Amino acid sequence: MGTVLVTGGAGYIGSHTVKALRTAGRDVLVLDDFSEGHRAALLGAPCVTGSLADRALLDRVLGGRRIDAVIHFAARCYVGESVEDPRRYWRANALTTFGLLDAVVEHGVPVVVFSSSCAVYGEGRGRALSEASPREPVNPYGRTKAAVEWMLEDLSRAHGLRYAALRYFNAAGADPDGDLGEDHDPETHLVPLVIREALHGEGRLRVFGTDYRTRDGTCVRDYVHVTDLADAHVRALRVLEAGGESLRVNLGTGRGRSVLEVIRAVEKRGGRPVRWQAAPRREGDPARLVAKPGGARDALGWEPRRSGLPAIVDTAWRWHERHPEGYGE
Ligand code: UFG
Repeated sequence: MGTVLVTGGAGYIGSHTVKALRTAGRDVLVLDDFSEGHRAALLGAPCVTGSLADRALLDRVLGGRRIDAVIHFAARCYVGESVEDPRRYWRANALTTFGLLDAVVEHGVPVVVFSSSCAVYGEGRGRALSEASPREPVNPYGRTKAAVEWMLEDLSRAHGLRYAALRYFNAAGADPDGDLGEDHDPETHLVPLVIREALHGEGRLRVFGTDYRTRDGTCVRDYVHVTDLADAHVRALRVLEAGGESLRVNLGTGRGRSVLEVIRAVEKRGGRPVRWQAAPRREGDPARLVAKPGGARDALGWEPRRSGLPAIVDTAWRWHERHPEGYGE
């Protein structure tokens, strides 16, 4: 077997996937520019440092050894930032990805696994989202993800590339062995922010919107454990390498949790109350984004095994407790 090239393999979901691939016996090469990722998160995996926008570098990496598949994580991932600076998102997430896919086709790499997002569905019309739900992204982040899905569709039709577009819902949690965790700068995601407040009591936690038409007035999301996401990548690779058809699947649990339920789960884990303040709605936040489960089970044999809220919170808590400065890089 040849090598699996993992772009963005030093990032949050990428690093957990690299670990899962190596545990499954795969030969991995990471390509990362370390604009967001962390060297310590590689856990010693081989890595080329550089930019995906560097075509000569891509040609060297893809032409220099047998690459069986590319797993493409490298992207920017903040909805709010994408609204303020869409050029950055179209450049980093769409244009650069086109360059990568162009090189992938040219070098004859047969398989691509792509980090898509539930953001391709937009507001989601309040219903559970199946893979057949319409793609109606409402922000530049979601639009760039949808654009790459369309690129993949076109390239697969014309050039026989086979791909999996994995539409993540809300990634959370940390490696159960304690090797890896979430370390964004700045951190904007709910689970780490609630845990930080529980651990350090800075009084900065805000709940964005308490007047949504949901069961307790706060937004509902489908939280999925990062190791379950990693497992889905290993499975997608297996399915495609065995000759399976291209696929687009949701990676969510089908269970929605409100912001207040997440806060309560952290309070329970930590055995202490968490202070928070009600704040205005955050622009672009849909009230409810929950997957209709089943698609990934049928396509990949995937079940979210660790994605109960207590397991997500417990693994994330242990990571943040032991790594107050994240990776310290
Ligand atoms: N929230 C708060 N306070 C905070 C942070 C978040 O109340 O300090 C709320 C948000 O309003 C939202 C929920 O917690 O209702 C979850 O917010 P996150 O920022 O953790 O996650 P998002 O649902 O906004 O984002 C996730 C991924 C993004 C992806 C997006 C697609 O983390 O990478 O889904 O919709 F772009």
